[in-house]
Amino acid sequence: YSEEEKTEDYLFKIVLIGDSAVGKSNLLARYARNEFYPNSKSTIGVEFQTQKMDINGKEVKAQIWDTAGQERFRAVTSAYYRGAVGALLVYDISRRQTFDSIGRWLNELHRNLLSLCSHSCHISGVLDSLFIGTAHSDMNVVTILVGNKSDLKDAREVTTAEGKTLAEDEGLFFMETSALDSSNVTAAFQTVVKEIY
Ligand code: GTP
Ligand code: MG
Repeated sequence: YSEEEKTEDYLFKIVLIGDSAVGKSNLLARYARNEFYPNSKSTIGVEFQTQKMDINGKEVKAQIWDTAGQERFRAVTSAYYRGAVGALLVYDISRRQTFDSIGRWLNELHRNLLSLCSHSCHISGVLDSLFIGTAHSDMNVVTILVGNKSDLKDAREVTTAEGKTLAEDEGLFFMETSALDSSNVTAAFQTVVKEIY
């Protein structure tokens, strides 16, 4: 490759959603910095990280957005979802309540994408150049259902089969992860980016 080819960039926006304390921020911290915070605080507002990845020898950049699951801290405007081409929909396998919320999060994702779409069906900024004329006039966001905290085996309240079934019913990818012991964290993010790409 020439230097120019090697540094060719693709930027994808990916959003993390799900109830408070399911581990969204720690999944991002593990993925982007290989860090884990045993006592992390609830996210306030919105944060994002840009992460380089190698997909089939091409450098791809994922801009991963993280917001609070807790209603009172959420800065959920359509801006959070604007331009997103991928989503990680996260629950905690040790708290059934967070799994029961998934339907609500899916509705919120679709409602926001729909309202953005009826306003103007295009993706802003750098993504324009990539997706103009492609299928992004619909709500085509690659979404993976993520059952986090798979390390908490003794406290499990949601079976792997239940997660798989929900994902199949909703047409989502599915994976169980642990931000604590790292299992499947990179794989979950890569599944989304590879599918977009
Ligand atoms: P909000 O920002 O409030 O929406 O929460 P969040 O989804 O970002 O959760 P956060 O990453 O802050 O994690 C909440 C708690 O769960 C923290 O105490 C983490 O240490 C813990 N945690 C996160 N991921 C895992 C995991 O994979 N396994 C275990 N055992 N604990 C985890
Ligand atoms: Mg957080």
